[in-house]
Amino acid sequence: MNIVKVRALLSSILLVVFIGVLVITIGVLYITKTGNPFLGMNKSELFNARNILGPIMNVLIIIHLALNWNLYKKELKVLFK
Ligand code: HEM
Repeated sequence: MNIVKVRALLSSILLVVFIGVLVITIGVLYITKTGNPFLGMNKSELFNARNILGPIMNVLIIIHLALNWNLYKKELKVLFK
């Protein structure tokens, strides 16, 4: 698999995980304000889901940043020239 495909695959997985974290965050805010379950999940189930998806997203972001590091260095040179 070439590097562009690897980047595209990783970014797509990252996007899906990010949407999951976004929905869970909205759920935590909702349940904290109303006390009602969110999508059939109680507070501790939401926290469990967040505790799993959060670290996965962090690991994916570290790999994503590493794969884009050279591009990012070039951008920094343009930014600070
Ligand atoms: C929802 C989360 C994210 C998604 C879906 C996403 C998606 C993308 C995509 C599609 C690219 C183009 C190259 C590629 O596919 O690898 C890219 C580039 C890049 N991403 Fe992300 N990204 C996310 C989060 C982040 C975060 C949190 C960081 C920094 C810690 C980051 C740093 C970069 C850098 C440095 C590049 C190189 C190009 C540029 O600087 O614009 N990304 N990202």
